[in-house]
Amino acid sequence: MTTVVKLGGAAGNALGPIVDELAAGTPPVVVVHGGSAEVDRLATALGRPSEYLTSPSGVVSRRCDPEDLDIVTLALAGRVQTEVVRALGAHGVRAIGLSGVDGRLLLAHRRRGVRAVVDGRIVHRSNDRSGSVEAVDADLLRTLLGAGLVPVVGPPAVTAEGEVVNVDADRVAAEVAAALGADALVLLTNVPGLLRRVDDPTSVIPRIARDRFEEFLPLAHGRMKKKLLAAQAALAGGVGRVAIAASAHVPPIARALAGDGTVIA
Ligand SMILES: Nc1ncnc2c1ncn2[C@@H]1O[C@H](COP(=O)(O)OP(=O)(O)O)[C@@H](O)[C@H]1O
Ligand SMILES: [Mg+2]
Repeated sequence: MTTVVKLGGAAGNALGPIVDELAAGTPPVVVVHGGSAEVDRLATALGRPSEYLTSPSGVVSRRCDPEDLDIVTLALAGRVQTEVVRALGAHGVRAIGLSGVDGRLLLAHRRRGVRAVVDGRIVHRSNDRSGSVEAVDADLLRTLLGAGLVPVVGPPAVTAEGEVVNVDADRVAAEVAAALGADALVLLTNVPGLLRRVDDPTSVIPRIARDRFEEFLPLAHGRMKKKLLAAQAALAGGVGRVAIAASAHVPPIARALAGDGTVIA
């Protein structure tokens, strides 16, 4: 059975423990990565700082005009993915990096008419280059796994028309897990799970029954909301359970699978 492990890309995430754990040998794993901190760093270095937009329903996402998409691609497919693959390789794990464009692994629909709340008013953004994953080439991933490789997958994705679009990495992980029929999706992040009080790391909610999911959604703010929505999509897609757990706990994957953090099932 395959496990999909998503590595957080915000500040405060640790890569070392995951690399050590995969190097020690695990059942088949597909790694998915984000990289928001690196996108922000590069964006600032290039003189075009990141901006985040809030949708009318309160979901926060990155502004993604064509210039922003270039920076996302440079940061994620260029730097973050190369670093994850390098680190795994240095520890004897044969990893292969794929953006959604490679082999058209992640086929997406471009979002049309993105709406954002600016100064209390709803504005339409026609220039947006973000989308949502509609299909994952699970056969390609199985081929790589069958060859003993660890696929390392990240945004951007590609549309049927061949346009590159940014997609949410938590959502990528959910769609990859669903497409593979994974038994578990592990979302490793910079907090120890879904917290009842964001500033209190001891307030982890240990377990959420899938039919009571809606009760817990209001506890998640900002980008944690995306993680919960991704978890919901994964469960709806047939994934057995989703764990949200700390990337810095050692060994992170085994601990998450053993019930560390928040388990949604
Ligand atoms: N209820 C909550 N519990 C835990 N984290 C929360 C909650 N609400 C908001 N957050 C925020 O979500 C962040 C994790 O999401 P994000 O920064 O996107 O990490 P990642 O890079 O792992 O995707 C936390 O660092 C925290 O600031
Ligand atoms: Mg995130």
